[in-house]
Amino acid sequence: MEPAAGRVAFAYDRTRYHPPEVSGRIATAITAPVEARFKEPHFLELGVGTGRIGVPVLARGFRFTAVDTDPAMLQVFRYKIAGVARKVRLIEADARALPFERASFHGVISVHLWHLLDDWQRSLLEALRVLAPGGYLFEGWDESVGESEDCRIQKTWAEILRRQGFELVRGRHRERLLAVERALKGLGLVPRTELVAEWTEERTPRQSLEAIAERLYSYTLQVPDDHFFPSVKALLAWAAETYDDLDRPYPIRWRFFLRVTER
Ligand SMILES: C[S@@+](CC[C@H](N)C(=O)[O-])C[C@H]1O[C@@H](n2cnc3c(N)ncnc32)[C@H](O)[C@@H]1O
Repeated sequence: MEPAAGRVAFAYDRTRYHPPEVSGRIATAITAPVEARFKEPHFLELGVGTGRIGVPVLARGFRFTAVDTDPAMLQVFRYKIAGVARKVRLIEADARALPFERASFHGVISVHLWHLLDDWQRSLLEALRVLAPGGYLFEGWDESVGESEDCRIQKTWAEILRRQGFELVRGRHRERLLAVERALKGLGLVPRTELVAEWTEERTPRQSLEAIAERLYSYTLQVPDDHFFPSVKALLAWAAETYDDLDRPYPIRWRFFLRVTER
């Protein structure tokens, strides 16, 4: 793997870290209903990334298949599970055209994927097609609670960009979740959302700045280079004046939600 191609993949776990007890709770919320209904259930994860959600599921010994379009993400996943997992298949494939027969899986997992796909409807229909009757669709997401220094830094960057004449579009993730919920209800399904875990992360201003400067968040990709580089330079100058110590951590409160829909 090229180091450049893997850069975001390796950094991903740093910016989207789940403490072990949170990973365990998420895995339990996903596996418990499926295990109660099916003997030897088989899980599929769409847009699996580096396996943040998938690894704790497969570590419990379940059959697990995952797709992602980014080979660098799948490679990081492979390193993590080397020598551990025998019932795992990782496939470079598009969630909008799944290479599986209908009704092949008992649980389909999708976390932080829908907002990346303009034609998410295709992926949702594919997820439902490959789910066995009585199987479950699990959609998960992280949400920060209240204001933190991370929010302040991101808002300051948006403000700098606005002054430069570029309007940053945010909030697509939440809008997309609502659109998918409406689509599921329109199909006569009954999605139920549960709060699975709540925790506090310690993050430094430097880490928040790096996440923007290194374009680790997907929303940073909409900014063209001629706006991106001057705005990041201005943001770093603002941070140097604002914080006495860029390495002093501040707390961010997080919640993880799971929307569960029975097929
Ligand atoms: C924001 S990451 C989320 C990763 C993982 N679900 C998690 O929550 O940790 C989105 C992932 O979806 C993948 N992806 C984007 N478009 C995709 C598509 N059309 N089909 C499959 N995977 C896709 C990306 O490569 C990336 O690994």
